[in-house]
Amino acid sequence: MRTLFAACILSSWLLALVSRAEPATIQRRNSRVPQGFVTTNGRTFELDGKPFSFVGANSYWLPLLLTESDVKKTFKTMQEAGVKVLRTWGFNAINATELPGALESGLTYYQACPLPHAESLSCLQRLDRVISTAGEYGIKVIVAFTNNWVGYGGSDLYVNWIAGANQPHDVFFTDPRIIASYQSYVKTIVERYKDSPNIFAWELMNEARCLSDTLPAGPSCVPGSNTLLTWYRQQSDFVRSLDPNHLITTGGEGHFFWKKPVEYWFDHTLVSDYNFNGQAGEDFDHDLLLPNIDFGTYHLYPQSWYSELDFPGSNWTVESWGLEWIDDHVRAANKANKPVILEEFGVGGLQNKSTIYPKWVQRALDTKHAIMPWQFGELGLAEDGGNRIIKYADAINHGASPNDGNTFYINQTAVWDIFTRAAKIQNERSG
Ligand SMILES: *[C@@H]1O[C@H](CO)[C@@H](O)[C@H](O)[C@H]1NC(C)=O
Ligand SMILES: *[C@@H]1O[C@H](CO)[C@@H](O)[C@H](O)[C@H]1NC(C)=O
Ligand SMILES: *[C@@H]1O[C@H](CO)[C@@H](O)[C@H](O)[C@H]1NC(C)=O
Ligand SMILES: *[C@@H]1O[C@H](CO)[C@@H](O)[C@H](O)[C@H]1NC(C)=O
Repeated sequence: MRTLFAACILSSWLLALVSRAEPATIQRRNSRVPQGFVTTNGRTFELDGKPFSFVGANSYWLPLLLTESDVKKTFKTMQEAGVKVLRTWGFNAINATELPGALESGLTYYQACPLPHAESLSCLQRLDRVISTAGEYGIKVIVAFTNNWVGYGGSDLYVNWIAGANQPHDVFFTDPRIIASYQSYVKTIVERYKDSPNIFAWELMNEARCLSDTLPAGPSCVPGSNTLLTWYRQQSDFVRSLDPNHLITTGGEGHFFWKKPVEYWFDHTLVSDYNFNGQAGEDFDHDLLLPNIDFGTYHLYPQSWYSELDFPGSNWTVESWGLEWIDDHVRAANKANKPVILEEFGVGGLQNKSTIYPKWVQRALDTKHAIMPWQFGELGLAEDGGNRIIKYADAINHGASPNDGNTFYINQTAVWDIFTRAAKIQNERSG
């Protein structure tokens, strides 16, 4: 295995050198798309020429499961809930230090270093199984290529490995060696599934930002630098050059870069709102106009984004902030004339979930949205315990899939029913 690891490093550098050709900006044509592939028509998704409205599930942990029966069980529960789309991670990278432990324990990983090579793509059969099983249950999959955050490898693994220590997070978006390495991995994944109607869309990165949870933003990723816009354009053009048929999206949180600042008073200070001032790195309005970004994604977590929401004198509630955020993205989607997915959202606590979600879901359904709550849980999995299979703290406890506080399960009917009802409405609207 050690020799394989060395081979991994060597040949991917060679690969990186030869695969740097500039891809042409090819746009996708609905008329040429094979049967069973999702397309867009203005603000709506379509499947074989008919409207495709849906409720989807986020379950990043599904490809990490070890047994086929657990994977099938989860898809069956989703199918019975009316879920039509699954979003999951198409990345799982570990570094050299973690490799021996991973080999010993059977941990799922796809890349043993951020420099991809066929031999290091160790557990991709587990992703294969999810993508093929999805089709058996009439579910299509959104696959994200990497993470802005450190979870499951993520972009900082590339930064630390390739650019070295003391680099800001955003070199991920600009260092040509890192881009070549990312593209080499993306090519592996896209070519593996490019003919599969079980893929709904490719997603360039989960929640791209100038900063991460382990590395700060650098001085060159600032409002107006267009660092993420440029990267989104390059990478969406690259994916399109590999795959003319599947939809492509950013996977972003949907931050805005508005010239007219949004400000609010917090603790006697006028604060410029991070979600609207470009500091996060995205520019939702312009990102959505890119020729090979087929639809928009945004996320919604006001409780963790604004501790101010509970500050005395605040005019917002979690619920009202969420409704405004939805409306802001609808306006951008209307302007771009492309679909949007409210792709992740969550609040803590069953009570909060059961009172706030119906309002958000209703607003989304009223404004031609697809919705994907964070996150769908499964009970009664045969696998148990945790860190061997699922790195970090999110283990399987007594058969329940990982719970980050936002997970909802079928036994929590007040929440579950909100989504099964919404799924029914969406499915009735579909062809
Ligand atoms: C590998 O990742 C672990 C965290 O999982 C970290 O503690 C360690 O320093 C990393 N090693 C290298 C060589 O980057
Ligand atoms: C409350 O709303 C007013 C009017 O829209 C605004 O000027 C003020 O900044 C808001 N206060 C807070 C704390 O958001
Ligand atoms: C429910 O929402 C309120 C208001 O934002 C918050 O203070 C509380 O912590 C939430 N409950 C849970 C369990 O997260
Ligand atoms: C539902 O299942 C979860 C996960 O096992 C558990 O924590 C919870 O207590 C169960 N019941 C309800 C009503 O939430």
